[in-house]
Formats: sequence, C-alpha cells, structure tokens
Amino acid sequence: MTATELLSEIADVGRDPVRGGWSRHVATPAESDLTEWFVERAGRRGLDVERDGNGNTWAWWGAPGPDAVVTGSHLDSVPGGGQFDGPLGVASALSAVDTLSDRGFRPSRPFAVVVFAEEEGGRFGLPCLGSRLLTGSFDADRARALRDADGVTLAEALTTRGDDPARLGADPDRLARIGTFVELHVEQGRALEVPVGVGSTIVAHGRWRLRFTGQGNHAGTTATADRRDPMIPAAETVLAVRRAARETDARATVGRLVPRPGGTNVIASTVDLWLDVRTFTGSPEPVVDTVLAAARCAARAEGCAVESTTESLGGAVTLDEALAARMAAAIPGAPSLPTAAGHDAGILAAHVPSGMLHVRNPTGVSHAPGEHAEDDDVEEGVRALADVLEELAR
Ligand code: GLV
Ligand code: MN
Ligand code: MN
Ligand code: MN
Repeated sequence: MTATELLSEIADVGRDPVRGGWSRHVATPAESDLTEWFVERAGRRGLDVERDGNGNTWAWWGAPGPDAVVTGSHLDSVPGGGQFDGPLGVASALSAVDTLSDRGFRPSRPFAVVVFAEEEGGRFGLPCLGSRLLTGSFDADRARALRDADGVTLAEALTTRGDDPARLGADPDRLARIGTFVELHVEQGRALEVPVGVGSTIVAHGRWRLRFTGQGNHAGTTATADRRDPMIPAAETVLAVRRAARETDARATVGRLVPRPGGTNVIASTVDLWLDVRTFTGSPEPVVDTVLAAARCAARAEGCAVESTTESLGGAVTLDEALAARMAAAIPGAPSLPTAAGHDAGILAAHVPSGMLHVRNPTGVSHAPGEHAEDDDVEEGVRALADVLEELAR
C-alpha cells in the first residue's frame, strides 16, 4: 500500500472541530484509535507488535534482536496540527515494508517499525516524551508528575488508560537493540525544493513556562492605578520575545498564554506564558535570559511577580554523518538540510546512529492544517526509505 493510502485510513482520527486540523494526544481516544490502527496494519504485514513501558509501540519484522534497523516516527500531533508531521513517517515505514516485501527482500538484521509516544508534548508539555524516557534523558518521576491543562498527571492518565506508570523510565536493554534509526518526516518549512532531502542537523531547542502573578479583581470597579494585572507584563514579554529573536538567529515563540481565572470581566490573578526558543548556533539560554530580564522589569512596573521554569532544553544535534552520506549517495540530487523542528531522531542520535529523510512540503506550513506533501513526493520518499532500509538490513 502507498503511504498516502495508509494516511487516508486515519484521516478522520482526532479531527478537532474547535481548533481545526487534528489534535492527537497521549492517553486520549484518538491515540487509542491510532494505536489500534497501527497494530492492525502491522499485524497484516506479519510484524509482531509490542508496547514498551514508555508507551512506544514496536513492530518487528522477524525476531527482535540486537543491532536492529529501526524506522518510524510518531502519530501524535500538536493541538490543531496537520496530518503529516509524524504519521507520514509511520505510514512510510509500513509502506516501505510493503515495497521491500514486493522486492522479495527479507531483512537479515533485526528490523522494527516504531511509533514513539507524544513526540509533540501536545498534552503534557514535554516533547519527545517516549524517546526521552526510553533513552533515560528525562527522569521518570518528573514524567509521572507532568500535568496536562486540566491538572491530570501523566501517571493518572496512564492508569486510566490501563497502563502501569511504574513502568516508565530508562530502558537500556531496548535501547541497546537499536543499531540504526531512520525517521522519514515531512519537511516543515520551505527549505526543500526537490522531493526528498537528507537531514543534517537539528537545532538546539528549549521550552520555558513563565508565571506572572498579580491581583485578581473586578474589571469595572478597579481603578487603572490600583491594578496589578499580570496580563500587562505578559503582553510586554511577548513583544520582548520578538525583539530578542530579531537581534539573534533564534526562533522564539509564545504559542500559549493562559490567564486565570479567565473571565472577560475579571482582571486575571495569574497568567502562564510558554516560551519556545530554538537556535541554529549556540544555546537558546542567552535569548531566554534577555526575555526574562524584560519580563521581570515589566512585572515590577505592574506590581506583579514572575517566576520561570525550564520545561525542556536540548543542544543542537548533528545526525550521523556516515549514515547521511550513505543516504545522500543513494538518492540522486538529494540536498542535505538542517531542521529547526524537533524529532525523536534527535533524542536517539546521542545513543545510536540516527538519520532523517525529509519529504518536500509545498505549502511550507507545518504544525497547522495547511501542512502538505504531494503523493508523488511521498512515493519518492518511501522509495528512498525502502532503499536505505534494504541497504542497512541486508
Ligand atoms: C516538534 O515537532 C517541534 O519541533 O516542536
Ligand atoms: Mn511537530
Ligand atoms: Mn514530527
Ligand atoms: Mn517534531
């Protein structure tokens, strides 16, 4: 089956009538439906499926074992996201298995298709949740205590799903089985002008939460001079983020702002603001320091307090150069390109040779419903993936 046909099978799962696009988050009915779909489709291909303690799903072609060739991506989305970021890599992996089977190929190395859990951090805020836990790069106790927007902890959500949160955590035996990881992904900007490119680097990336605290009060009866409105320093901070980004090569975003209690006629008592910063060179931290200085200054001027928490931070990643060169040699004309998006391949790269293939996105839009890849480009991507996997698993 083509990857496009596979994607069309899940096109209605997790559609978000309020935000538009798709909202597919960990431990929700959408995730169950997607997992069920993956398990069924992998089973049809004769793959043996297992779920690890971190909610990642593995489908083995042949017996599990060491030095495995692993390919896949994630099925979750950002809130109101597109339908390619993640699922394209999973559908392409299954389609590549079909291509290889049609060629009469049987891997002589262990071979698995993987679906990583909650890559976007769309529900619990931590991107690459499944791969970070697997590799031990995020503490299991901290993970269990992560809260979603309704205050539900990850531990509670997993328990409700019927999973044991005690199983979360580093899985060195499973990690040791992965010999090579290849993730195919839709390109998320306008950088790719041919159907397929080879990933070179992934930017440094962090997420911070700033909480502004003021005085909740009445929107009509509170004189302007008497207000301690946390929305004011929050707004000033949004503008400081743009200024700080302009002065550097950083990409800095406030995509989420939550005033509480959130009434039209109520001065907020707190505002939470999430900051996402990525840098092509160096660390995002100097940009964050600039923003925090502006936030403190604006908070003081309004009689408010501000505190900040680092939710995640990772350095820039160079994907495996030998693997990238091998992939580039096998795909005539494929450019090498960096990505400013985060990926499970970036987490795994610290542990095992990891590479990425990117498929052109004609809209240049991602993390939004306009994300797109043309069928022909997807087919080229799958062909390239199958060729790479065949060479690796021969
Ligand atoms: C995830 O895809 C991210 O880049 O934030
Ligand atoms: Mn994404
Ligand atoms: Mn992705
Ligand atoms: Mn990503």
